Order: sequence, then structure tokens, then C-alpha cells
Amino acid sequence: MAQILPPSALAAPAWQAGDVVLGARLEEVVGQGSAATVWRARSADGDLVAVKLFDTTKCNVGLTLPAYRRGVQVMNRLTALSDRLPPTVARLRCVSLNLLGFVTDLAAEGSAVSLPARAWPPERSVAFFRKLCGAVAAAHDEGVLHRCIKPSNILLDAALDPVLTDFDTADLPALAAGSADACGYRPYAAPEELAGGGTQSPTADIYALGRLLEFLLLGRDPDAGAQPGAELEAQGGVPEGLVRIARKCTMPAPEERYQWVGDLLEDLDGHESAEFVGLGRDEAPAPVPYGVSALAPRTPWLGRLRRAVRRSAPPPLAAAPGPSTTSPPRSGRRRLWPRRLWPRRAPASVAAAGAALLVGSVLAAALAPRPSEALLDALRLVTALGAAGVSLLMSPLRVAPRASRVLAAAACALLVYLADFPELAAPPASRAPVERGSGAP
Ligand SMILES: Nc1ncnc2c1ncn2[C@@H]1O[C@H](COP(=O)(O)OP(=O)(O)OP(=O)(O)O)[C@@H](O)[C@H]1O
Ligand SMILES: [Mg+2]
Repeated sequence: MAQILPPSALAAPAWQAGDVVLGARLEEVVGQGSAATVWRARSADGDLVAVKLFDTTKCNVGLTLPAYRRGVQVMNRLTALSDRLPPTVARLRCVSLNLLGFVTDLAAEGSAVSLPARAWPPERSVAFFRKLCGAVAAAHDEGVLHRCIKPSNILLDAALDPVLTDFDTADLPALAAGSADACGYRPYAAPEELAGGGTQSPTADIYALGRLLEFLLLGRDPDAGAQPGAELEAQGGVPEGLVRIARKCTMPAPEERYQWVGDLLEDLDGHESAEFVGLGRDEAPAPVPYGVSALAPRTPWLGRLRRAVRRSAPPPLAAAPGPSTTSPPRSGRRRLWPRRLWPRRAPASVAAAGAALLVGSVLAAALAPRPSEALLDALRLVTALGAAGVSLLMSPLRVAPRASRVLAAAACALLVYLADFPELAAPPASRAPVERGSGAP
């Protein structure tokens, strides 16, 4: 869309080192994007800062002016909420009245674009990614979507921790219209964004986060057309849990991704237990182009299920194309019980304890051929507990797997407890005393 700028905007000066802008003396250009130039500068109180200035000569080449201004407005709003936000969300120190320039902290180590050169092991990448997810979750809690998560918008502080910046600057209409690489966002943009819609939900940011996880693990931009998880599998050496998490983030249909960053963080915490996190290749529905699965359910019951899921889906967070707006904050699904009561490894540990109980009760029964009534009762109880523990590993349903596991374990315990093993095991002749009739001595 053509932009009409006021003459004053076109007359913006070409900034030079030594100029004082927004109270900071410019020293050196540290980066240039499609719409702005970033300077290292010295503030009045002597701090090293970054000054980002919109480049009016580039208007309409990269970001459009409204998209740029919208991003500055959103960052300004987040800065006002900084008490509630982690340090991984960038703050503005000063903003120009026309929203064309701002001052922010200088990122000591540049941006995440440089991370592949560090060749981090997966666990270091996961630690970094977890902090990044924390920043996105905090912004979502405030009703703000990022909508342009890509390596150059993730700055690195002195400890190489992420600082998320440039909120809401993606020019999504240009992206949908096929702009070449869309300022580097194309490999990270969700299919519904590329199709020109679907930008009002956290799931688009979750898609970009999944792509960013791939970037960290692959050491390069992911291929925009790759199937979910395929590139990580082809790379080899990536822990299975991380492949499954990336697969679930990058499913083409938004309803098959994590719905909230809190859910993604929960899976990251337990990624070592691969079978409990993300989506396996067999579990993932065959990827179909965005929209097809939603518009043409393959079976009627699936259509009903999808409608039910959509009815219970989270409300939109932001309305395009204006700045992201507020909605009831929510960062994770409601839990039946807090995570400390159900740590990720709990089922495996309880199952191991259950197996030990079963072995113990079999041994006790073998060593006491004529068990007393009291011992039989104790053995029955121990066996029931052991069976419940072992059955906890089974997940009969994908829906609410934890609740279904606990119910199944309780049912199993009850059945085992009620079963009369000596009665079942005894030969028929011994079940009921047979009247031998007269003649017996
Ligand atoms: N606060 C900062 N401290 C240090 N370097 C920065 C800072 N902000 C941005 N940069 C550097 O400046 C470069 C240009 O940033 P800019 O946001 O203008 O463009 P971009 O993110 O690469 O792409 P786009 O044109 O989509 O915005 C970044 O790649 C980053 O390395
Ligand atoms: Mg940027």
C-alpha cells in the first residue's frame, strides 16, 4: 500500500557520528535493517545505549511507516508495564514524539543471528529458548503478541541471554502479497500469516517459536516449506523430545499446535522424557495446507470435535492491523493439580515402585506357603497398590491423559483388591468342600 509522507518526514537529516539525538550522542552504526539504522550512542549520564532511527529514504522498501510506528507504540506500552515483565523483554529509555526514533539498552553481544557460530550444544540452546519463551509468555499475559519473532529481533545481553525486541513490526499484508523474504521473517511466519490471515492468536507466535527452536538446533534458518520436524530429524543427533516439541509448534493447522506458551514451557521442562512431550511422527496428523483441515473435516465426528475445540479455544489477543490489544491474560492451560504434585517423571517413578511392590508380594507369597489371613490381606493391598502404580504408565486416552491415568490406576487397584486370588488359583476340587458321603472312614 502506498504511503504518503509529510514533507517534514522526507526532510529528515542524514545522521552522523557526533550528532545528539534524543539526548544521546551517536558514535557508530551497529546495525541496519530494512527500515531503520541502529547506532551505538552515549547517553547524557554516560551509559552506552542503542538509538534506532527510522530511515525515511527506505520507506516502502522494507517495513512500512505504520507498521514501524505500531511496533514502537507497542514497545512503549510494554515499557510502561516493565514492573511485571522479565528482563528478557526490551524496554525503551526514550521515544521521539513522531515515533520515528527511540533509545534502548545496547545489546552487548548483538543479535541471535550470530548464535550458529557459537555451535551451542542442544541443552544450551534449550536454556536460551526457555528464556525466550518466558519473554513471549509474559507479553502474551499482557495481551501483546509479538508477530515478528526472528533471530534479528532477539538481542543478546552480556550473559548471552535473549532480549526480545521489535514487537509487532511484521508487515503481514506485504508478507501475504509475496514480498521476497519479508525482512527475514518468511521462514518463521506461520502458514496462516503467509495466507493473509490468522494473526490474532498466540499460536502464530508459537509457530515462530518452533521455527526459532529449529534455527537454534540446526544452526541456520529453517526451510520455509519443510514438514514439521523433518529438518531436525534429517540433521540427526537432536534429542527426540526437542524434535517432538518443534513438530507440535510448527503444525500447519493452528489448532494442532500448543495453544499457550505455558504448555510449550511445560513440555520443555520435561523434554528428556520424549514420549510425554510434543507430537510424535505417528501421532501427528498428516500435514495439510493451512485451512484445508479446518474447512473440510475428514469425518463428521472429527468436524464436531474440531468445532468443540474451537468453541473452547482461547479468545483472540490482538486485532490486526492495529497495535496488539488486551484480552484476558492467560499463559497456560488450567491444571487439575499443580506441577509440583505431578512432576514430569512421576509416572515412571511410581510405576517402578509399583513393579517393586508386585515383585515383593510375589516373593512374600512364595516364601509363606501357608499365609495367615492377616498376611493375605496385606498382600492383597500391596498387590493392588503395585498394579495401580504399574498401570499409571499406560495412557488410555490422549484427552486429559493425567486424569485418565489416575482413574485407570484406581480402577485397576480396586479390581485387584477385590479379586480373590487364593480362590481363583485353587483347583476346583478345593473350592468347595465335597460331601464324600457315607462310607468315609
Ligand atoms: N539495542 C540494540 N543493541 C545492539 N544492536 C542492535 C540493537 N537493536 C538492533 N540492533 C542490531 O541492529 C540490526 C538492525 O536492526 P533492525 O531492527 O533495524 O532490523 P532487522 O531486525 O534486522 O530487520 P527489520 O528490517 O525487519 O527490522 C539488528 O540485526 C541488530 O543486530
Ligand atoms: Mg529488528
